[in-house]
Amino acid sequence: MRTGRALVICLLVTLFFLGHSKLVSAVTITNGAINDPLSDQVGDPIRGRAIVLSRQTGLCILCHNGPFPEEQFQGNLAPELGASVSHYTAAQLRARLVNPAYFNPNTIMPAYYQTVGLTRVAPKYAGQTILSGQEIEDVIAFLETMKSQNTK
Ligand code: HEC
Repeated sequence: MRTGRALVICLLVTLFFLGHSKLVSAVTITNGAINDPLSDQVGDPIRGRAIVLSRQTGLCILCHNGPFPEEQFQGNLAPELGASVSHYTAAQLRARLVNPAYFNPNTIMPAYYQTVGLTRVAPKYAGQTILSGQEIEDVIAFLETMKSQNTK
């Protein structure tokens, strides 16, 4: 009976942590950059491109445009992505995706990897980031490929 109860408690604690595994501790931006990758796996540029063009997850081209010939409708509220990326290192791009408000407090660009200091978050999404750490790394890997296209 006792062990039974202990087991149940163990299970509940494990479930609690599993349920909260998406919670991310705040990532600190230092000198406009985040040097450490947000995942153990290196970013995949092909997945990253899909995220950037996705109308569900990345939504980047709602505001930005770029060298994406297959996309008819692209945004004009933000700088052209292909040209933008050439100004930044991967660490600087990471910081811009994690928390654009660090650079411009009035920005309309969403903080893709931030759970604190946000306003107007639906309760359902509280404590969750828009993209996972791996997805952020994928997007950076893709943005980096646009750099090499620029220099050609
Ligand atoms: C709701 C509009 C919006 C969305 C969605 C958005 N951005 Fe932005 N982004 C902006 C604006 C506006 C700026 C210009 C700087 C500022 O105001 O923050 C910007 C700036 C940037 C910059 C720096 C540009 C420069 O030249 O300094 C990069 C890189 C960038 N965004 C990448 C992305 C990526 C990648 C995504 C998708 C994962 C994305 N943005 C989604 C609006 C958006």
